[in-house]
Amino acid sequence: MDPVKAGLLGLGTVGGGTVSVLRRNAQEIARRAGRGIVITHAAARNLDKPRSFDTAGIELTSDPQSVVDHPDTQVIIELIGGDTLAHELVMRAIANGKHVVTANKALIAKHGNEIFAAARGRGVMVAFEAAVAGGIPIIKAIREGLAGNHIQWVAGIINGTGNFILTEMRDKGRDFADVLAEAQQLGYAEADPTFDVEGIDAAHKLTILAAIAFGIPLQFESTYTEGITRITREDVEYAEELGYRIKHLGLTRRTEQGIELRVHPTLIPERRLIANVDGVMNAVLVMGDAVGPTLYYGAGAGAEPTASAVVADLVDVVRALTSDPENRVPHLAFQPDALSDVPILPMEEVQTAYYLRMQARDEPGVLADVASILGEHGISIEAVIQQEPQPGSAHASVIMLTYRVPERNMNHAIAAIEALSSIEGTVTRIRMETLDAS
Ligand code: NDP
Ligand code: HSE
Repeated sequence: MDPVKAGLLGLGTVGGGTVSVLRRNAQEIARRAGRGIVITHAAARNLDKPRSFDTAGIELTSDPQSVVDHPDTQVIIELIGGDTLAHELVMRAIANGKHVVTANKALIAKHGNEIFAAARGRGVMVAFEAAVAGGIPIIKAIREGLAGNHIQWVAGIINGTGNFILTEMRDKGRDFADVLAEAQQLGYAEADPTFDVEGIDAAHKLTILAAIAFGIPLQFESTYTEGITRITREDVEYAEELGYRIKHLGLTRRTEQGIELRVHPTLIPERRLIANVDGVMNAVLVMGDAVGPTLYYGAGAGAEPTASAVVADLVDVVRALTSDPENRVPHLAFQPDALSDVPILPMEEVQTAYYLRMQARDEPGVLADVASILGEHGISIEAVIQQEPQPGSAHASVIMLTYRVPERNMNHAIAAIEALSSIEGTVTRIRMETLDAS
């Protein structure tokens, strides 16, 4: 049978990795897919840019639309990124009756509902395994491997750049900006790296995970998002003293009141495997009622790890070319007419435990005042550390761990603590999760 012809949009980190993996493993890929897969056309912005991979046999252009419209291309691989041009090109590919493979989580999180509806209308597939956690096949695991479960929660380290920065800062004492520059040079970071460090990229991915775990529409705008830029070395050290690691976590949980959808730095007990996931590695922990906890680990970014997921999607598309569109795995795991309208919980209603750090005047009664405010808001203290003031300073660092409480109560308590004349500056708050089997 003739090979399937694919058009590639983007020859950057992931595009290059995809070209290389498809070439190197061509025979095995064809044995799995039942047909060869070749990239016949590809688009990049600057055709004079030197590339470190072999583009022989691929017709190159700086006009991505011509790839989408070319009568030979049956599958379009979108690896340009962003949600403007990529959105137009993907919608056009679908309108042209072509299957789409993409690694673009911003596109899926923001426009996925529209894209999947259009794809259903045209009977084409849109595959996006590489959009979440790089090379880890987490979409397939949740959508297919865990299809028998009532999923209770999903928690993951789902941004490789952020985890790489936190790990290098903790283990080697390196500077934030210096490690971010290295992540950019290694091709891990987004075109706009604030997406990585402010948690937006992780929020895109969590939006997708929540949709396929719970059978809800994609709701990126409802995701609570906090990045890693305010984590200090002090907090990392105090957390370790207390037996925790600080990780940037995406967490979505089904509760009776609604679905939690949140991305923020989180203290995790250091005995948990996920607390020990370092560097560019990602890990996703999924709790299903039948299977219990399952953990998926692997490279979260980079050329070939991500290409691994892109090529797996291509193989799936080729295998499904002859199947009835009605019998394909649904884009969001659940049948489109069976999606649930369960609400996303506002952050104020989410319950977690907290790590608090504050600068308190070193005099009697201050701790009692803080404890009394916490008590008035129904917040119980689990542990307290008080450091000696630095020489010449009248203030000491006080670190507290609390039990679980609604975020609204904690907001009010923090406002009252910050109003005390004995407390200097703001109170640092980092949420804590035990991630145990409950
Ligand atoms: P890069 O910036 O490395 O590559 C983008 C490519 O798109 C480049 O080849 C660029 O051309 C091309 N391009 C940009 N604008 C145009 C245009 N107007 N016309 C034609 N080509 C254009 O990005 P990545 O490979 O890192 O990321 C691609 C996608 O994959 C993004 O959605 C990203 O979020 C996602 N992703 C990335 C991962 C990673 O580890 N990097 C991991 C998982 C997902 P030129 O080369 O000439 O500049
Ligand atoms: N910038 C992303 C990350 C790429 O660092 O995780 C993988 O999605």
